Amino acid sequence: MINIGVLGTGYVGLVTGACLASTKTNIVTCMDIDDSKIELLKEYEMPIYEQDLELLVRQNCHDYRLFFDWDIPGCLDTFDVIFIAVGTPTAADGSVNLDYVQSACNMIREYCTSRKVIVMKSTVPVTTHEKMEDWLGHKHTIISNPEFLREGTAVYDFTHGDRIVVGTVDGMPDPIMKAVYTDHLDKVIWTDNASAEMVKYASNCLLAAKLALWNEIAVLCGETGANIHDVKTGVGADSRIGPRFLLAGPGYGGSCFPKDTRGLHQMFTEHMKGTKYGKLIKAVIDSNDYHKSQTFRLLWSATLNSWRADMKIAIIGLAFKGGTDDVRESPTHALLEQMDNQLADYETVVIDPVATELPETRKPVELTTDLVKGLKGADVVVLMTEWQQYKNIDIGFVKSLMRGNIIVDARNMWSRAECERNGLVYYGIGC
Ligand code: UGA
Repeated sequence: MINIGVLGTGYVGLVTGACLASTKTNIVTCMDIDDSKIELLKEYEMPIYEQDLELLVRQNCHDYRLFFDWDIPGCLDTFDVIFIAVGTPTAADGSVNLDYVQSACNMIREYCTSRKVIVMKSTVPVTTHEKMEDWLGHKHTIISNPEFLREGTAVYDFTHGDRIVVGTVDGMPDPIMKAVYTDHLDKVIWTDNASAEMVKYASNCLLAAKLALWNEIAVLCGETGANIHDVKTGVGADSRIGPRFLLAGPGYGGSCFPKDTRGLHQMFTEHMKGTKYGKLIKAVIDSNDYHKSQTFRLLWSATLNSWRADMKIAIIGLAFKGGTDDVRESPTHALLEQMDNQLADYETVVIDPVATELPETRKPVELTTDLVKGLKGADVVVLMTEWQQYKNIDIGFVKSLMRGNIIVDARNMWSRAECERNGLVYYGIGC
């Protein structure tokens, strides 16, 4: 049996802990300094919305393979392996704030009397493992094990992911980590600590770059009469590129791509001072920031000639993507803020099945989970989040609820032809 402790029960720590506990030879304790969160988890109250997570937690707790504890000093020394899954937010200068990582290391240094395997799960800049050696007093084995889970499908991704990257000091397989991942050994890629840390940034930043360029190409399609759907079919057929991750949208958001692109840029600034390297990732960041206003620009031009004093704008989706309640860097937040700053006299309702956190705006914004209530009397419907339950909705029904006839589809989720057949005027991103 491997006795595993997970420090930090945010999205990464909780999903990782719950999934690792499914391996029959692992016993996992998820810990957090927030005792109220731990008490709620003991009652199976999930702090985040994530498909299948509650069921998995219930099952593994029931089988005595998953536990929750807030007494970190009291239990740290009982584990063979300690995963660190604390937050690594962006600091004011764009760098990654490692304060929580350092405090986790300090606790391990203080409360562990025997040598442990310390697994870094949080996303940290390349070379962080060297700092951790100092913080941990050179007494423990440091493993770099980045996560590649997508919010909304994280539990599925844990068992069906493409790879598990494990970085060790010499790049050689570690026997305890082999035991931890015994059910998924065929997916493990062994490497050194720095390379493992870099795999995470390189993966997220390549995906972010792909999307940023793709969104620019989609906007250009709109200007030139090309259709992004057909362009996607043609481009995605090239096996070197592939059809996945080519859905034009309102700009990428979430806690990962924005943070990791900034983090990589900061690493270029730090390690490659005086060179021109790092400009490309900066361009990706700037492009996405600019593109996050594209939905507002579309809304503006769509309503220019039909604006009325009591305009009702219904926005479908608050979360940064479908399947999650996470609103961090959500394009809907950006849109609501732009509307608040630049438009007068309108009513807004946001429809989202799970997300609830609105940005601070001067004008009130109504929030509902009820699609019919939200769409009723709307002059404009703006589609911001690709919630699958709204994908195949009857467009005629949508039209029957609306007062106006404008659809701004920032996810290219509905069909222009179907909208037009139902008397709607359709604006998409390049289609
Ligand atoms: C991303 C990575 O995909 C995960 O592998 C990684 O583990 C995670 O970050 C992380 O670092 O923790 P996530 O942010 O949950 O996962 O979501 P994605 O599905 O990758 O989407 C990211 C953003 O791109 C979202 O705003 C999404 O709407 C957008 N997107 C994605 C598109 O606009 N079009 C696409 O075709 C795909």
